[in-house]
Amino acid sequence: MANNSPIGLFDSGVGGISIYNEIKKTLPNESAIYLADNLNAPYGKKTKEEIINLSLKNTQKLIDLNCKLIVVACNTATTNAITILREKFDTPIIGIEPSIKPAILNTKTKNIGILATEKTLSSNLFQQTSNKFSDGIYIHEQIGYDLVSIIEKSGINQELLKNKLISYVQPMLEKNIDNLVLGCTHYYYLIDILKKILPSSVRVLDSSSAVSKRVKQVLEVNNIMSRTKDCKNEFYCNGNESVIKKFLGEGEKINKMIF
Ligand code: DGL
Repeated sequence: MANNSPIGLFDSGVGGISIYNEIKKTLPNESAIYLADNLNAPYGKKTKEEIINLSLKNTQKLIDLNCKLIVVACNTATTNAITILREKFDTPIIGIEPSIKPAILNTKTKNIGILATEKTLSSNLFQQTSNKFSDGIYIHEQIGYDLVSIIEKSGINQELLKNKLISYVQPMLEKNIDNLVLGCTHYYYLIDILKKILPSSVRVLDSSSAVSKRVKQVLEVNNIMSRTKDCKNEFYCNGNESVIKKFLGEGEKINKMIF
């Protein structure tokens, strides 16, 4: 595996672009390949077996494209499939899990909220992590019904998303949460709306910076940091590309590919 090979990332759509951006901020000299499996979005409503098969397919594709490290830029794929991915592939694989631990360490009201997809919340990995850290702390779970589908279909449609979010956070606010964990990479793009509807005393936590730190660490430990400044970033989707375009930075373009 060459040092100058790209880092590979995948998600069901645009959510993982937030992780890509954070990684590029920390590691600007790394090349990257991003797969948006938007033909199969949302993952959160699929069976565990389907999520595993999609994750295997995406990881295999990134390895075929010569990626030196894989970032599963999707909580749903991580919590349902990462153990199997690590069994099957030798390439280092980094996943993303909801920031439960920092929320638990920070809470004063002893109540935290988590907003995630149905399949993340029902996964064994998520349940084990919450049980491990949650002694004496209440974790109020809320499924973010339809949020991923709306974002994938229409981007950040403020009004529609705002009304959904109000109805999702209200029950958690009634339980006096002071930390809200975002357990889906798509929800990163909802932080601005959430800040408008939540009291300022509620802290919103996402995991993107934790993942980029971990990526740096794993590249260092494996001695596979890029040795060139001449990097290249590529984005691929297998469904409609019109919404994804809005989430990419200036000069970045999305290509269609069958995978
Ligand atoms: N970005 C994915 C996640 O982090 C979205 C899952 C979905 O497609 O439902 O969970």
